[in-house]
Amino acid sequence: MERNTISDAEFLKGYSSTDFDKRLSFRDLLLNAPIPKEELMNNISLFVDRRNISRILFINEMYQKIIGIHGSIIEFGTRYGTNLSLFTSLRGIYEPFNHNRKLIAFDTFNGFPELDKKDDNANIKWKEGDFAVPENYPDYLTQVLKLHESISPLPEIKKFELVIGDATINISKYLQAHKETIIALAYFDFDIYKPTAECLKKIIPYLTKGAVIGFDEINVLECPGEAEALREVLGTKNYRIQHSIFRANAGYLIFE
Ligand SMILES: C[S@@+](CC[C@H](N)C(=O)[O-])C[C@H]1O[C@@H](n2cnc3c(N)ncnc32)[C@H](O)[C@@H]1O
Repeated sequence: MERNTISDAEFLKGYSSTDFDKRLSFRDLLLNAPIPKEELMNNISLFVDRRNISRILFINEMYQKIIGIHGSIIEFGTRYGTNLSLFTSLRGIYEPFNHNRKLIAFDTFNGFPELDKKDDNANIKWKEGDFAVPENYPDYLTQVLKLHESISPLPEIKKFELVIGDATINISKYLQAHKETIIALAYFDFDIYKPTAECLKKIIPYLTKGAVIGFDEINVLECPGEAEALREVLGTKNYRIQHSIFRANAGYLIFE
């Protein structure tokens, strides 16, 4: 399978590029910042654009809904782990001593293992291997997450787990090996039908009432499979699909 580290540029093919080009300019300004190294991290928000701030606020919105609800957070489709890192920090901020709030992330780290007819759409032709990350990336992500945990309360307790490989296989193995699991928040960002449907089905017995189930691409032309999976497994007419003011494409429901 081809390792295709697809970029936002490819994802946005066909859309107006003006906004996108401007966002890329922030990257160039960051890479060439005349800011002393030791001052760089404290000024990183100079380069974080509205869209990225909105994503952070959206993750924060979902997190706030599970404060007071027991259980783990699972991200389905984690890629570079940017949301995992946010969840780690939010746990430290909101629930500093809740070492029970585990973060579990499922990803092949090799991109899509397979596609389904239900992922066909009029705008983009997905391929196996899309969204792969560089080899050995999980080791790097582990280092980053450990560092975040080391500056948060209870640093001696490891509270995250990367489940590497095809989630359609690994979800059952994980839940079988972790019968203690209660899920407070499941965030789906596979973008495609089969793993979304399979994992959604498998986690239902492990969800608690009030749990948040988030979807990164719902009602989105390029990712029909995510909505199809939701419709098939839970039914979109059975739940209110909440829209966040922070994020156009994402949505979530409260499992009641
Ligand atoms: C859109 S990316 C996730 C982006 C990430 N959540 C973020 O915010 O940057 C989709 C991810 O789903 C993963 N994925 C898709 N199908 C999968 C499967 N069957 N098992 C595990 N991971 C899968 C891909 O490897 C890819 O990293």
